[in-house]
Amino acid sequence: MNKHLLAAAAVFAALAGPAAAADSVKVGLILPMTGPFASTGRAIEAAARLYMAEHGDTVAGRKIELKLEDDGGVADKTKRIAQEMVVRDQVKVLAGFGLTPLAFATAPIAEQAKVPMVVTAAATSSITEKSAYIARTSFTLPQAALGIAEWAPKNGIKSAVTLVSDYAPGVDAEKTFVQVFQKGGGTVAESLRVPLANPDFAPFLQRVKDAKPDALFIFVPSGVGAAVMKQFQERGLADAGIKLIGTGDVVDDDILNKMGDPALGAVTSHHYSAAHDSPENRKFVAGYGKATGGNRPNFMAVAGYDGMHLIYAALAKTGGDADGDKLIAAMKGMAWTSPRGPVSIDPETRDIVQDVYIRRVEKKDGELWNVEFDKLVAVRDPGKAK
Ligand code: PHB
Repeated sequence: MNKHLLAAAAVFAALAGPAAAADSVKVGLILPMTGPFASTGRAIEAAARLYMAEHGDTVAGRKIELKLEDDGGVADKTKRIAQEMVVRDQVKVLAGFGLTPLAFATAPIAEQAKVPMVVTAAATSSITEKSAYIARTSFTLPQAALGIAEWAPKNGIKSAVTLVSDYAPGVDAEKTFVQVFQKGGGTVAESLRVPLANPDFAPFLQRVKDAKPDALFIFVPSGVGAAVMKQFQERGLADAGIKLIGTGDVVDDDILNKMGDPALGAVTSHHYSAAHDSPENRKFVAGYGKATGGNRPNFMAVAGYDGMHLIYAALAKTGGDADGDKLIAAMKGMAWTSPRGPVSIDPETRDIVQDVYIRRVEKKDGELWNVEFDKLVAVRDPGKAK
């Protein structure tokens, strides 16, 4: 090759390189697909794929490529996968994060690489403070707990015991519930924390029974509720007149039907119920059911669906430019109608602003549902208001 041709080839390669890379935008979805929190991974993956099936895989002329990897719910693995995805695969967005420790571990990667990180599950308030590149489509525990903490003292519940999984979201839930419930005139007799790994609820529930509160407030992460519910029944807490209240995580739509009648009457507050009455949700529930062989979407699923929406909408807004700073800027203030109701991304905190519903477990046509009967409108994360 002569000198001129070489120079021309170099120029062409320089032009072709970024042009070729501009063809597709890779989204790295990191979820627990195995281990005790695999139900979270399955729900988010199914809903993210449903969103793509419904909306196509091209945004502003760029093909969206979803790369799914399983972290087994282990933080070191999440971080390593995120690093590889950013460096080797050149993903433009990281998404997923089934548990708080997994999101905490990955935040420095998003920060250093300037790659947006869309949290579709983990719900500790402080997560979005760990990097300016984090946005969240799930919820925060202070946001969810606020509803029931305000509702309970106005509805005959004067004393409560709290029982939470002993890690950051549990502490968030406990703190908000205790503060708000006490402010409303309630008394908290005891605050109990159970280990996250292999919890045995029996001794804790015996203590609750002995304390005889009007209600037991529970937070356990998605997937764990059925075990608590079984013990609540077997230990005779319901028969002793103790009401079960909590954030909606404990009566997760994914497993609510399997919990059976012991769950009936539980009042919780949360941002999503599969029973939410709107055209968007009816379509979502039908589509999810069709895509998964009849499963019901839960609050993890809706966050996965909305996570994809946020990524698509941000990329559309930048005209297909996947630069991290531009994408996260586009996400700020984004508002849309989710299957859960109206939502937006708080431009200051990058956390989701949403309605929080009060719901009661009821049986309809032989199935259990979280039936919404009241709501707080457009709730910003109260965990940041300090
Ligand atoms: C969390 O680890 O942040 C988490 C996981 C599952 C939930 C709520 C919070 O249901």
